[in-house]
Amino acid sequence: MTVLGIETSCDETSAAVVRGRRILSSIVSSQVESHAAFAGVVPELASRMHMERLPAVIAAALCAAFGRRASVRDLGRRVDAVAFTQGPGLMGALLVGKVAAQSLAEAHGLPLVGVNHLEGHALAVGLVRRVAMPYLALIVSGGHTELVLVRAAGRYRVLGRTRDDAAGEVFDKVAKFLRLGYPGGPAVDRCAREGRADAVDFPRPLLPGTWDFSFSGLKTAVLYHVRDAGYADAGRVRPAVPARRRLPRGFLADVCASFQEAVVDTLVEKTLRAARCHGVRTIVVGGGVAANRRLREKFARGVRGRGLRVHFPPPELCTDNAAMIAYVGERRLRSGRISRRHAVNPSMAIRSWA
Ligand code: KG4
Ligand code: ZN
Repeated sequence: MTVLGIETSCDETSAAVVRGRRILSSIVSSQVESHAAFAGVVPELASRMHMERLPAVIAAALCAAFGRRASVRDLGRRVDAVAFTQGPGLMGALLVGKVAAQSLAEAHGLPLVGVNHLEGHALAVGLVRRVAMPYLALIVSGGHTELVLVRAAGRYRVLGRTRDDAAGEVFDKVAKFLRLGYPGGPAVDRCAREGRADAVDFPRPLLPGTWDFSFSGLKTAVLYHVRDAGYADAGRVRPAVPARRRLPRGFLADVCASFQEAVVDTLVEKTLRAARCHGVRTIVVGGGVAANRRLREKFARGVRGRGLRVHFPPPELCTDNAAMIAYVGERRLRSGRISRRHAVNPSMAIRSWA
């Protein structure tokens, strides 16, 4: 089955064509440069940019999959269904993708499948390798930190989730405070390579007794550390208030490395404990933060000798993309759990998945 996927939940405008497990095309138009000036995603700007870019992105995905002459006009004979990100995400941004997908599906009489964005991150690894279920998925993105037991495609149990700042969000906020630019995750990842991970003993918020995550205390600890070292305006320690004086390179690198280590240790430790507790031997990590070099290293080390395996999708399938959305749509249609004639009620509300 061949499915056109559309993803517009945040700041990536993306369309892809997937056939079974094969990605025929995947186009991602990132808005990062436009949001960088504001050091974060501006929802109104994101919606407008999706509106401007989505038609060309869909056209490019169809041409890349089926050749230069392909267009939305002959969509009906090229694909079997249209899948789109139904939520969670920025409402205005989601609506652009939903309306586009719905219009295309209705105009060509194709089934329409609304996909949960997090389900996309949890299953994306399936586009590059067969990973036997059940597995434990750690989804770490700009808006979410979730531990999900994937029993089978379509059967999920959310064990824990973000209580405050998500993992990616805390990278972005700390980077903003340190004036490292946006998005913060890759900037901290780069800067940390020159620093010592044991330079500052930041807290590991393990939250015993729950699989939930909370990173806002760690964020505050970083801000206080920078302030106490005399680099920030005391009393105005807020993420939006950047370090006042230019931070020495070595100090900055040590703070980045130590902060990153604390986030990574927390994510790895909790995930390994959850895997043990639920008797699951396979771990899959997805979402933008899964691109983090240190997280990959420490997971690989953490599973060694414990009878566990960990899989990461390639970085381009960790960050937001429509291929994972098309893939989930394809699996759901093929499973027969939704009718091919009318996969979703087009007026269905955008909901979370658990
Ligand atoms: O999954 P994603 O592309 O979008 C959302 O669904 O939110 O994740 C984006 C997040 C951003 O917060 C970004 O800073 C973070 O992923 N990120 C990273 C890295 N690359 C992207 N965080 C840490 N290290 C990285 N290398
Ligand atoms: Zn995402």
